[in-house]
Amino acid sequence: MLVEQPRGSLMCLGLGITLGSQLTILAREQLAVADVVFFHSNSHYLAGFLQQINPNLVDLQPFYQAGQSRLESYQAMMDAVIAAVTTGNNVVWACYGHPGIASWPPHEAIRQLKALGYQAQMAAGIGADACLYADLGIDPMAEGCQQFEASQFMFYQHTVDVSGYLLLWQVAIAGDFSLARLESDSRYIQILVQHLQQWYPPDHQIILYEAADLPIWQHRADTIALTSLPQATLNQITTLVIPPLHAKKINHNMLDQLGVPADHPLRQKAG
Ligand SMILES: C[S@@+](CC[C@H](N)C(=O)[O-])C[C@H]1O[C@@H](n2cnc3c(N)ncnc32)[C@H](O)[C@@H]1O
Repeated sequence: MLVEQPRGSLMCLGLGITLGSQLTILAREQLAVADVVFFHSNSHYLAGFLQQINPNLVDLQPFYQAGQSRLESYQAMMDAVIAAVTTGNNVVWACYGHPGIASWPPHEAIRQLKALGYQAQMAAGIGADACLYADLGIDPMAEGCQQFEASQFMFYQHTVDVSGYLLLWQVAIAGDFSLARLESDSRYIQILVQHLQQWYPPDHQIILYEAADLPIWQHRADTIALTSLPQATLNQITTLVIPPLHAKKINHNMLDQLGVPADHPLRQKAG
C-alpha cells in the first residue's frame, strides 16, 4: 500500500555570517517560496533584509527569556516550527551562519519531522569557521584543527593536540552550566585559562576572532596573551583561536610501515 507523505515540509538553511553577501542561491530561492520563514533577529538589519525576500516572517528571538535555560527556549522554538509544518506549511528555518553548527534545535526538528513522515532537510550555509579560515589565512588541514564549544571543552575530558589549531566557540559563556547566561563572567574565563595552561604557557598568544556581521565592517582579530583572556572583551560572537604551540612531529614509525623511501621529502622533516 502506498503511504502518502503528509503535507508540510521543513528546510533548515544558513544565512551566512555577513548579512546578505553570504546567502546561497539555494537559500534565497527557498526563502522566497516558503509559506512561513522562522528566523532569529540577532541583528537590527536581518528582519528588514528577509522582509524583502518573504514577508511571512516569525521571529524566534522572543523565545529567549532572561534567566531561562536555553534548553527550554530551544524546545519552545522547535515546538513552534514543528507545529507550523504539521499544519501543512512549507517552512523555512533560517539560521545564522550554518544551521547545523553549535545549533542543536534544527537537527532535532528534522529528526522528529522525518520520524513523522514529513520531508525535512538541512542546507549548508557559511558558518563562522569558514569566515575565520578566510580572514585569518588558516588552512585547517595544514596543521590540523580541533574545535569545541567552550563549555563542552570544559565539562568533558578532552585531549589537546598543541601542534594544531584549537578553536573554542561560545567562549564568552564558557563554563555556563545553567544554560541561562548571555554575558561573559571573568571567574569562569579564569577557570578556562587555568585549564588551558595544562597544554599552553601563560604567555601563549591567542586570537579573539569576530567575523564582520555586515559587509561594511571589518573582522576583529585581537592577539593577546592567554592569561589576559579574563580581562578581554568577549562578546556573544567571539570565537577563541589558539594557534599551534609547536610544529607537528613526523611519525617515523608510520613512515617505516608505509615504506616511505629515505629520499622522500617527509624523511627530511624534523621530529
Ligand atoms: C550558537 S553558535 C552559532 C554558530 C553558527 N551556527 C555558525 O554557523 O557560525 C554561536 C557561536 O558561533 C561563533 N560565531 C558566531 N558569529 C560569529 C562571528 N561573527 N565571528 C566569529 N565567530 C562567530 C561564536 O563562537 C559564537 O559564540
